[in-house]
Amino acid sequence: MERILLGVIIFTDNPTVHETQLVLKTLRARSVPTKFVAPWDISMPEFPEYDADLVYVPSNMLNRGSTFELIHRLLILREFERSVGTVVNPVDSLVNYSKGHLTLTMERLGVPHPKTLITENIDQAYDFAAGILDSGKNVVLKPLCKGRGVGVIMLNRIRSREDLLQFLSWYVRAHGQGVFYLQEFIPNQGYDVRCMVIDGEVVGREKRSNPEDFRYNVSAGGSAKNFVDSVYDELAINVAEAVGFKITGIDVLPAEDGTPYILEANCFPGYTALIEATGVPIHEKIVDYFTRVLDR
Ligand SMILES: Nc1ncnc2c1ncn2[C@@H]1O[C@H](COP(=O)(O)OP(=O)(O)OP(=O)(O)O)[C@@H](O)[C@H]1O
Ligand SMILES: [Mg+2]
Repeated sequence: MERILLGVIIFTDNPTVHETQLVLKTLRARSVPTKFVAPWDISMPEFPEYDADLVYVPSNMLNRGSTFELIHRLLILREFERSVGTVVNPVDSLVNYSKGHLTLTMERLGVPHPKTLITENIDQAYDFAAGILDSGKNVVLKPLCKGRGVGVIMLNRIRSREDLLQFLSWYVRAHGQGVFYLQEFIPNQGYDVRCMVIDGEVVGREKRSNPEDFRYNVSAGGSAKNFVDSVYDELAINVAEAVGFKITGIDVLPAEDGTPYILEANCFPGYTALIEATGVPIHEKIVDYFTRVLDR
């Protein structure tokens, strides 16, 4: 079979994403041979023999589309791992990527994480939500594998228990795709901190806030500022290692009393706002990491 001389394969179904283009340009500027490969470029059982040392998966190709696509793309990623070696993020971490997995990992790691229930059982979901609401706190519902604040809803305007049950059954179809991820709302200081971790190091941090919304995501209308304090770095690095991500955005929410709650470990973090807020060229930090792998 024909051998193709390459350094980095960017495996994606959408090469036009802004951050992906930034990484591509940086790789090219440093003369690293780079090629885009899409899932439909690969037919099996004969797997193409790429002469590459690293496969970069810059956007989520598993948690959207059909279950069949997920299984097929996973097979491709496993073959990449077997034939090329390094896949970023590692395939196991891609498979595990969900808010549910994060919750279990945070429990094991023993770091502050809001009280959470992950279930398909609407009765359990109801009891959990009603229990928290009865104690005078709020509850947040989230989709397992979406991002950017999409579908993240607070249960603070539910008047009766009957409304709560109706709302839960609507939500689980509209956003949850059959699974409830319910979480205690943590009263906080009006901002969260996103730490960008690459290869076990924090390369940039932003503080995000939104006076109009409890979701501080920039994509949900929030704004971002540089955050220079390294106080959460060690925590963010430990979380990144525990979930197995080499490139990740870790969201830390300081509670009213200052306790740093881990809300999210993002496997495909967008970083356009982070570059704007901090001036740190995250795409170059990513390529620095890739060239360290290629040089090994
Ligand atoms: N338990 C909580 N208590 C207080 N605020 C929360 C809680 N969960 C989420 N939020 C707010 O909502 C925002 C979005 O939630 P989260 O980060 O969990 O989901 P997402 O941003 O959609 O997912 P991802 O981070 O994977 O893109 C958070 O940044 C935070 O501002
Ligand atoms: Mg988030």
